[in-house]
Amino acid sequence: MIKVLFVCLGNICRSPMAEYVLKDIVKKRGIEEKFQIDSAATSTEEIGNPMHYGTRDKLKKEKIEYGNHLARQIEKEDYKKFDYIIGMEKQNVINIKRIIGEDNENKVYKLLDFSKSPRDIADPWYTRDFDKTYDDIVEGLEGFLEYLEKTKELF
Ligand code: 4NP
Repeated sequence: MIKVLFVCLGNICRSPMAEYVLKDIVKKRGIEEKFQIDSAATSTEEIGNPMHYGTRDKLKKEKIEYGNHLARQIEKEDYKKFDYIIGMEKQNVINIKRIIGEDNENKVYKLLDFSKSPRDIADPWYTRDFDKTYDDIVEGLEGFLEYLEKTKELF
């Protein structure tokens, strides 16, 4: 079982989008039972809130199923519970480490570090461009799955 936790600032836009897009990809590939996928925030700002309508609308448009997501904050315990803790941008990684402490087991990544052009995922909070965020997320997830195949964690 590969346990993945996606993390962004609020857990209402980017990380739940990554969660549901990856759930959709692995379901379509018939490998969903190999994964446990969740998402969380670094901030307390949006705890208990549902996904941003922009993320929901984009998932709907792409015909991607999503659940009754409510934002939660990452906890220190999550470091033990997950194999991959994947932030959307550099600042997320800094904040993740502030909460979980030292990344002794090298579990913390930035999603687009798995792509051919490492960068931050486009933040739709100010731009309202959820299409760009989605494209970045798909690019990162494809790179992540290739990485898992290369490291033989996924076969
Ligand atoms: P997210 O988006 O981190 O992708 O869920 C944001 C949510 C809330 C805020 C910023 C970004 N905020 O400033 O409250």
